[in-house]
Amino acid sequence: MSNTLVVVGAQWGDEGKGKITDFYAGGADVVVRHQGGNNAGHTIVFDGKKFALQSIPSGIFNPHIINIMANGMVINPVSVIEELERLHSAGITDYKLYISDRAACVMPYHAALDGAYESLKEGNQIGTTKKGIGPAYKDKYSRVGIRMGDLLDKEYFADRLKNALLEKNLELKSLGLPTYDFDALYAQYLELGERLRPMICDTSVLLNRLIEENKKVLFEGAQGVMLCIDHGTYPYVTSSSPTAASVPVNTGVAPRYVNNVIGVAKAYTTRVGEGPFPTELFDERAEYIRERGHEYGTVTGRPRRVGWLDTVVLNHVRRISGLDYLALMLFDVLTGLDKIRICTGYKLDGKAIDYVPSTINQLSRVEAQYIELDGWSEDITGVKSYDELPANAKAYIAKVEELTKTEVVVVSVGPDREQTIIRKDIF
Ligand code: IMP
Repeated sequence: MSNTLVVVGAQWGDEGKGKITDFYAGGADVVVRHQGGNNAGHTIVFDGKKFALQSIPSGIFNPHIINIMANGMVINPVSVIEELERLHSAGITDYKLYISDRAACVMPYHAALDGAYESLKEGNQIGTTKKGIGPAYKDKYSRVGIRMGDLLDKEYFADRLKNALLEKNLELKSLGLPTYDFDALYAQYLELGERLRPMICDTSVLLNRLIEENKKVLFEGAQGVMLCIDHGTYPYVTSSSPTAASVPVNTGVAPRYVNNVIGVAKAYTTRVGEGPFPTELFDERAEYIRERGHEYGTVTGRPRRVGWLDTVVLNHVRRISGLDYLALMLFDVLTGLDKIRICTGYKLDGKAIDYVPSTINQLSRVEAQYIELDGWSEDITGVKSYDELPANAKAYIAKVEELTKTEVVVVSVGPDREQTIIRKDIF
């Protein structure tokens, strides 16, 4: 059995990665978040209480776990401190958290620019979370970004911030937005840096040491591969890569450690924000699934768009992210539907295709092709083993395995940790 496990969102995010990560975190020594920032919303139900984490790794509830926010993330220090304060007030005060000195720092102007760019897109909005994620990654790649470690060095940070503000204030002014005063921002972020100082370090050195010591490491992806900047439904994507392939770069470990990957998928599909969604439902079945699955965004509260399971998408994700296993989430939500559909392929301009086209123009024209299976009506929320599931529920899972050529090793039948059917030990 491998000492590392990568958890990958196999759809458009919100697949229930928080629950799965939390589940496997029980056997892990280290949990690493490697991309994205506080645009993610991981809901974890623990001791009957619900916790929404945005940027902090899901292992935070376990005092023995070392949690790492790696270099591939964009980190908003204000948000991290708020998240920690929320945990403190819930009585969670014993934890281990480390933040990469190389992670990009999300600055207040990034959120301002996120909103402004969205408004400029008139009718072509991406529907971002407006947390400044895209603008922060943009600055990273155009080399005017501030990194978390910069906040700890007064003189260096002053230079970096002056340099960034030269560009950013010009940009803000041109968009008719208020500019930022160096002194105020400098003082505020130095102070934030001081508060986080005990946690900021070279997490690649730490992580490699832990791996050499044979510690068990869980890599927690945020968002889903369909939101990947390279392989997702561009431009309706986030600005990072949630694939397993991005883990080595995003954390500073060698690729050979990424050899055990579980894709997390809902038993149906959801997406928030704009962009094509071939299996989207618009009728009362969408409403049924939305209500039963509480399909409202954790970060924004927006109702999520709902549709059937799409195995073209799952196979796309398997191809580029190397899925070894699948976890099928919110399976109980489908209970009560008379017939359940699974998308097995697309038709594009009358021609059958089995891949996700690269342009939104083409993807919005595809017609999903389905098979239809009989549903089940038995309550499965208390079911503990695969064998106890109704025959039609088992047939559904078997069909998913056949169509995706991937073993379904976890079936989630409710939000609580106990409501999880484990078919195989993988970590
Ligand atoms: P951004 O990440 O805020 O730039 O938003 C870009 C797109 O990614 C939008 O469609 C968001 O709704 C989507 N998105 C970002 N984070 C998440 C997530 O954690 N779950 C689901 N969708 C997300």
